[in-house]
Amino acid sequence: MSRIAVLASGAGSNLQAILGYLAAAESGTTVSLVASDKPQAGALAIAARAGIPAVTLRDPGDGRFILALLAEHRIELVALAGYLRRVPEIVTQQYRGRMINVHPALLPAFGGPGMYGVHVHRAVLGAGVKVSGTTVHFVDENLDAGPIIVQAAVPIEDSDTPETLAVRILREEHRIYTEAIRLVLSGLWRIEGRRVLKGN
Ligand code: GRF
Repeated sequence: MSRIAVLASGAGSNLQAILGYLAAAESGTTVSLVASDKPQAGALAIAARAGIPAVTLRDPGDGRFILALLAEHRIELVALAGYLRRVPEIVTQQYRGRMINVHPALLPAFGGPGMYGVHVHRAVLGAGVKVSGTTVHFVDENLDAGPIIVQAAVPIEDSDTPETLAVRILREEHRIYTEAIRLVLSGLWRIEGRRVLKGN
């Protein structure tokens, strides 16, 4: 039995996918907290409907408050899902190896400051690459640069716009995010250098 917190700034489709996976898995693992920097975030509404504590972070930069909130809910794993704020360093340090993020591109390409949502897909199409995708990685102090857990490639079609590409990638995000959560919670992994390897 594990207790997960999801931090999100937007619609919450990744949260919805995680809830669906956990319900089907009957693993006893639960999403025990949802927090957002945006009071009107769809993710908070999804949490409220599911009876999950839903919290708006008045000051997303207040690491002590976030740590106290996570401790209050006995959180073991933090999943960032479209959370657009920088997580304070005292939180990423405390949750090293227990905080993960999903990014809508094949990191390390198309990551870093300003690379979120449609901006990523615009940059990808602008670069003329033929394959994009999504990445789930551990979160550390380096934005979008923590060790990679799972990736999925998505071919780019000539007719693609940033919006049509975003839709196909989001579908893959939902699939690999639940796969990454299952792997991380299994404990059957280890980090060697910057590589996440299965088996411990
Ligand atoms: C996803 O595309 C995620 O990769 C990005 O923000 C979006 C969030 O989508 N960081 P949702 O709120 O989970 O629907």
